[in-house]
Amino acid sequence: MNQEERMYVVGSQKITIQEEIIGKRILDIGGGGEGIIGLCYGDRVIAIDPRKDELEEAPDGPLKIVMDARELSFLKNSFDAVTSFFTLMYINKDDHEKVFREIYRVLKDNGEFVLWDAIIPEYDGSIKDIFVIQLEIDTPIKIIKTGYGISRKDKDQDVEYFISIGENLGFEAIKVESQDKVFKIIFRK
Ligand SMILES: C[S@@+](CC[C@H](N)C(=O)[O-])C[C@H]1O[C@@H](n2cnc3c(N)ncnc32)[C@H](O)[C@@H]1O
Repeated sequence: MNQEERMYVVGSQKITIQEEIIGKRILDIGGGGEGIIGLCYGDRVIAIDPRKDELEEAPDGPLKIVMDARELSFLKNSFDAVTSFFTLMYINKDDHEKVFREIYRVLKDNGEFVLWDAIIPEYDGSIKDIFVIQLEIDTPIKIIKTGYGISRKDKDQDVEYFISIGENLGFEAIKVESQDKVFKIIFRK
């Protein structure tokens, strides 16, 4: 079977990044690849990603550091904001709570965690076992068309799932926007 036959494709989802993210220092989790947050917010961003090649591919501007979101090497209360742009879908669900805990720790009080991600349905055992989401991202710099893909197994997730993880750790979900199969949640510490 070829790759295309295995793909469960969610077609073009539109995302606009326009609102200002609070504060001077932003930590972007999984900031490699297209590096959308680094592109938009430049040298205010520290982009971490365990994959050096993904960081090298991302646009210049941020300080890029090879690091895993499950174990951040920063001291507590270090950042005004933390962002995750379609990164949590790449991280096993078993590790989500650990990542949220780390984000909470490194955020300053009243700091914000801005999470963009996909709504992924439960895997039904079909041959379409690769989830692909196609995005059209409207940034203040340019429009970027891209797609992110992962194995579907044990990856089902939605807005309520993430709000529950965040609130159990002490975050307050202060803004929730969802449209079709993508969402944005702003959590405040
Ligand atoms: C495809 S990118 C998502 C989009 C990316 N944020 C952007 O702006 O283009 C997902 C990234 O998450 C990274 N990632 C996977 N596991 C991670 C982890 N445990 N901690 C931090 N980043 C991780 C991957 O290496 C990959 O670069």
